[in-house]
Amino acid sequence: AKRYSITDIQELHRQRKPISMITAYDYISGKYAEKADIEVVLVGDSLAMVSLGYESTNEITLEEFLYHVRAVARGNRTSLLVSDVPFGYFEESTEQAVRTAARFIREGKVQALKLEGGRAVAPTVQKLTSIGVPVMGHVGLMPQHHNALGGFKVQGTSVADAVAILDDCRALEQAGAFAVVLECVPAKLAEKLTESLSIPTIGIGAGPHCSGQVLVMSDMLGMGDPSETTTPKFVKQYGDFFSHAVRSLAQYKKDVQRGSFPDVDLHSYKIKKDVLSKFT
Ligand code: KIV
Ligand code: NA
Repeated sequence: AKRYSITDIQELHRQRKPISMITAYDYISGKYAEKADIEVVLVGDSLAMVSLGYESTNEITLEEFLYHVRAVARGNRTSLLVSDVPFGYFEESTEQAVRTAARFIREGKVQALKLEGGRAVAPTVQKLTSIGVPVMGHVGLMPQHHNALGGFKVQGTSVADAVAILDDCRALEQAGAFAVVLECVPAKLAEKLTESLSIPTIGIGAGPHCSGQVLVMSDMLGMGDPSETTTPKFVKQYGDFFSHAVRSLAQYKKDVQRGSFPDVDLHSYKIKKDVLSKFT
């Protein structure tokens, strides 16, 4: 199967068919998404927290990030690959953003990038688009801005904030963004934004009226330790990987302790009698 392209995503949007996007962080998770025929795979900087154990997305370096992007690209040959640009590697100037983007395209082998921000990043979006790098915007709750936002909470709940988000979306559209992620905004606001924009909206915690949806794979598969992660309201948990893994590992330990693993017939190799007799 060939890889989904920007054109395919635009065509889905034109036909009003919902777009599915999921995060992936390595070879195996990239593979899961390929096998499920997910149209867009995002190497999200949520990677920093859910896969690498950092306290915030802002702690990951470009080198660490690219290492994972390359692994996802090796694992997935069919989804449109989009990468986040991590904190600190695009804000300084359009020149910095171009340099960073070139590394993601050349080394990471992604087809598009995602930048957090609205009006503030519009010139960067325009520049990257002009050199042939498709860009996805990201407004509403922007985790790279969590210190300024005062945490992780629903955005766009006042008139001023809702208008600001609309203005951000319009600026991104004007600058040539091919889609925009709406994170943690009221469903009715997301619906209005989706109606007023010509580009697809990809919602996370933004209700059912977006052009597409995105979830963090580790959240939806239940990969994280439930005792140390609070799953946001907007996550639907489709799997229970964490408890499955812990149960399986505990069972393995029991089997080793009582000698029921490995089974001599099922999990072991045989040696011919004559070889064995000469050997002993
Ligand atoms: O980093 C991430 O996983 C994201 C998605 C939540 C959109 O940016
Ligand atoms: Na992100």
